[in-house]
Amino acid sequence: MLPTYEAVSGRAFDVVAARIRASPQLVLGLATGSTPLGLYRRLAAGDLDWSRVTTFNLDEYAGLSPEHPQSYHHYMWLHLFRHVNITPARTHIPSATGAGTAFEARIAAAGGIDLQILGIGANGHIGFNEPGSSFGSRTRSVSLAARTIADNARFFDRVEDVPRSACTMGIGTIMESRVIMLMACGKVKAEAVSRALQGPVTTDVPASVLQRHPNVLVLLDEAAASLLSKHLLTS
Ligand code: GLP
Repeated sequence: MLPTYEAVSGRAFDVVAARIRASPQLVLGLATGSTPLGLYRRLAAGDLDWSRVTTFNLDEYAGLSPEHPQSYHHYMWLHLFRHVNITPARTHIPSATGAGTAFEARIAAAGGIDLQILGIGANGHIGFNEPGSSFGSRTRSVSLAARTIADNARFFDRVEDVPRSACTMGIGTIMESRVIMLMACGKVKAEAVSRALQGPVTTDVPASVLQRHPNVLVLLDEAAASLLSKHLLTS
């Protein structure tokens, strides 16, 4: 556990930077949302060599063009890609047009994901794998949960503008990553974090599957960690 959002972002940066320096051909899984913004701000300002790094994003809304200000394509360009020397052909974001199998093939061809950055929804979702998603699921189109639509409405002018569906890496896909770095901040995530890390492993809480992964680094601020038993916490 770390004291603040900035401390979480700084630690996440240290992890990603060390991995890219050690393996310039790193295959990096990327997340969107508000949580990784501090990490991306640090990466954008850094001097890492991204020229041989390959990236795969977790998810994308259906029905938004890549240029739409709320699309995850636009998010990645705005917050990271335009600031670093990444090779555009090495960046991959799923599209909701039924290309899940091709996306999976690209991950396999890249040798699998070395480090997957992950956030968590207030309902325990990972990527856009909503409660009830199979632990063996692969990259596919999904319907968004009412809670997710409500939570993400803050980014749109009106709740009616939030897409009802998306494309997401599957839980099975995410679990094949060699290392997973889960980031969560704020009181709004405390219950989901508690259910994910110290509750039963159940498809009702997609992130609880992470208890079965051998190499997960969890970065939390105090508020997100506030419902965890003390014995689970290190700094
Ligand atoms: C979004 C994304 C997830 C993200 C999560 C948390 O809907 N699909 O990949 O991790 O919800 O978002 P935030 O960091 O904004 O709380």
